[in-house]
Amino acid sequence: MGTSGAVTAALVPTPTGPLVIPAAAPEGGPTVRLSLIIPSYNESNNIPVLVAQLEGLLTPVLGESYELIVVDDDSPDRTWAVAQELAQSHPRLRVMRRQGERGLSTAVIRGWQAARGEYLAVMDADLQHPAEVNLKLLEEMERGASLATASRHVEGGGVSDWSMARRILSRGAQLLGLLILPEVLGRLSDPMSGYFMVRRAALAGKALDPLGYKILIEVVARGDIRWIGEAGYVFRERVTGESKVTWRLYVQYFKHLLKLRMSINSRFLRFCVVGGSGVFVDMGLLYLLSDPSMLGLGLTRSKAIAAETAIITNFIFNDLWTFGDAARAQPGVRARLRRFLGFNAICLIGLGLNLILLNLMFNLAHINRYVANLIAIGIVTGWNYWLNKKLNWTPLRVDTDAQKVSARA
Ligand code: GDD
Ligand code: MN
Repeated sequence: MGTSGAVTAALVPTPTGPLVIPAAAPEGGPTVRLSLIIPSYNESNNIPVLVAQLEGLLTPVLGESYELIVVDDDSPDRTWAVAQELAQSHPRLRVMRRQGERGLSTAVIRGWQAARGEYLAVMDADLQHPAEVNLKLLEEMERGASLATASRHVEGGGVSDWSMARRILSRGAQLLGLLILPEVLGRLSDPMSGYFMVRRAALAGKALDPLGYKILIEVVARGDIRWIGEAGYVFRERVTGESKVTWRLYVQYFKHLLKLRMSINSRFLRFCVVGGSGVFVDMGLLYLLSDPSMLGLGLTRSKAIAAETAIITNFIFNDLWTFGDAARAQPGVRARLRRFLGFNAICLIGLGLNLILLNLMFNLAHINRYVANLIAIGIVTGWNYWLNKKLNWTPLRVDTDAQKVSARA
């Protein structure tokens, strides 16, 4: 029963376990176009206003194909109970009350785990995010964006009367992020935003591991984000309640950046370790096959056999270790064969590049064949990593409408 004894809607069970987004909506539930998560802590006055605004904006565009999920961390002001009562008369609204795990980022992810939508979205509950910007984000998603984010730092964006200290802190945090994670924060004009939509397929199977408030950088760093759409918005002043941002969240943000830095590097480091083992296979076979004191076969033929053998051993280790998380999200022999053929094609192109570089350095620059081979392998390793990460170990896009697996997102 709700706060006034009125009948209230059932709560959404809180998912537990790893923070992994499923490739499709949970069993049995209808699928919808958009699932908008609204994380809340002491927002009981704001939720009714926001739900009415969102319904007025989204129903004309999406009909019934959307859901709003309030994820409340057992607020002292009983926001969850207010939302439950509201859900009784607003069928698009669902409510999750978390009583153990806490924190903004995990609240969003738990909401996405329970979501049924093809697009997974988040916005603040406190009316500081203009609700109408959702329509602009939807337009970007319909145009094919992997991610559409509301930004205060593009045309039409801004902050209301933030103190100079708050502006400096926000911009300072962004600058720090650009130094530590340029390949992530460099893709966003407002990496601090907590107002965005992401395609489920871009996150399917990814193990997320956020810290603190900034869920957007986690999504861009770990998701398969091809292209990003942005829409300007003015961050408003709060009407009721207060911000939960403390200095502790800035410390958590810094730790989050470092953790992502290590995690991204570690994947590339693992790829290089596997590549290193392939160098031994390649060099060892090149020696056994082509060295005059061994079989003495021709250089190119020996190199081709040595390289293909190294490609096979590298694929096995990369599929099990370097990209193991992505491989586990696409189980099955057919999927593994597809990955192997993709890996082989990328590496064979790399081998062609390797042969050209080897012959140029050996025959034209007269560099020792083994030194030339090592330099060529180094250059080709960067090529192979980037292409394999982008094209090969990427979950296929499941088009929820046509229930078919189509080309990658
Ligand atoms: N479930 C849950 N648990 N919700 C939380 C928690 C939590 O621990 N902490 C905050 N929230 C909710 C608030 O209720 C609000 O809806 C939203 O998250 C943002 O919290 P604020 O405390 O209002 O943050 P802000 O006003 O400083 O906004 C900054 O952070 C937001 C979140 O990243 C800005 O950077 C915004 O752009 C950003 O969206
Ligand atoms: Mn706020």
